[in-house]
Amino acid sequence: MAKVTKVLIESDKIAQRIKQLGAQITQDYAGKTVLMIAILRGSVIFFSDLIREIDSDKVDIIIDFISVSSYGSSHKTTGEVRMLKDADEAIDGKDVIIVEDIVDTGLTLQYLKKVLSSRNPSSLKVCCLLDKPERRKVEISADYLGFTIPNEFVVGYGFDYAQKYRNLKDICVLDPKAK
Ligand code: IMP
Repeated sequence: MAKVTKVLIESDKIAQRIKQLGAQITQDYAGKTVLMIAILRGSVIFFSDLIREIDSDKVDIIIDFISVSSYGSSHKTTGEVRMLKDADEAIDGKDVIIVEDIVDTGLTLQYLKKVLSSRNPSSLKVCCLLDKPERRKVEISADYLGFTIPNEFVVGYGFDYAQKYRNLKDICVLDPKAK
């Protein structure tokens, strides 16, 4: 059972912000086909809500998935990023949006941008639900951002602690006793 100290962002606020992000992406990519790449596993819930807020009359999307190593079962970063599953689609000449759950140290995003930009996309942007700028180790930011949050470990709406709590509807701060 999930023990949370407080709700940080309620589900209706998340939905409202994702509507705005979808509208912005629709406007920016009108008439184009966009390859949207979800970074497993944390971004899947955000990703599935986001793509349905992109107007299908105006933008065609193709979806793909990349999996990279994250923090294992603790919330301390090793600083090491490894590709566990690569994209299936070719990147060359495509308009690509990386969809990530959170920019924390920035190391994952830095790695992904480097790998994907070396494959000559027509454009490469990042859409991220959360940003924790206090923890940043490298200078990097998202082109589309949901919310900036303080330096707290969050669970729910796709975010996990030791692979649990992803199915909470709100974004919450975990009770330290649950760690
Ligand atoms: P970064 O490479 O340090 O920017 O972190 C990237 C990954 O760390 C994210 O994609 C998340 O999977 C994980 N992460 C960072 N902060 C949190 C958090 O507060 N809750 C859950 N996962 C997190």
